[in-house]
Amino acid sequence: MPSVRFFPSMIASDLAHLSDEIAGVVAAGVDGLHFDIMDGNFVPDITVGALVIRSARPMTTLPFDAHLMVTQPDVLIPGIIQAGANRVSVHPEIGGHLQRTLTHIRDLGAQPGVAINPATPPDAIEWVLDDMEYVLVMSVNPGFSGQEFIPASIRKIEALSKLIARSGRDVRIMVDGGVSPENIKTLVDAGASDFVTGAGLFAHRPLDARVRQYRQALG
Ligand code: DX5
Ligand code: ZN
Repeated sequence: MPSVRFFPSMIASDLAHLSDEIAGVVAAGVDGLHFDIMDGNFVPDITVGALVIRSARPMTTLPFDAHLMVTQPDVLIPGIIQAGANRVSVHPEIGGHLQRTLTHIRDLGAQPGVAINPATPPDAIEWVLDDMEYVLVMSVNPGFSGQEFIPASIRKIEALSKLIARSGRDVRIMVDGGVSPENIKTLVDAGASDFVTGAGLFAHRPLDARVRQYRQALG
């Protein structure tokens, strides 16, 4: 079983003090930072982009995970990677050419991921398994931090886990939305290894104690 990793969702932090928040999660021993990039089109809100990633980049050597909730990822991807994103996930629900977009991410030197909405079936990734490093299971509908975890996500993680095992590919399962110390063990048992933590982390300070609580919940 792969080691469990935590990626705080920085849009859930106090953005007026972003550098303090980054220092806080780094000191708490997280494994990477998750940046939610929204375009006001695929989802209603507009958040951060390459400029903020570039500003944050000198603060840590931890991987930056960019989650593109946008309808035109191909336009943004080069800038996001040049700014310092190490991992980039895109949504197949936008249509377009998923395999080509994933290949583009890999060619630019970042790890490609596929992010799937709650209503999107697990087999959405079946024919791009060779082209991706991770699947981001949205366990809330994308757009906002602080929503309630959707329980059907657990069965989807189990189905993805089987699909990936059958393929023989090394693709990690990351969960995004409503992850808490209460549900994390169930998600790991279902086959997930990487976790985005937004409100479940930043609304429960101090951050280092809360990260410990997540890890302790794994037993
Ligand atoms: C939602 C984002 C998430 C969100 C997670 O659209 O993709 O990364 O910030 O926040 P929590 O953990 O609060 O659900
Ligand atoms: Zn996200």
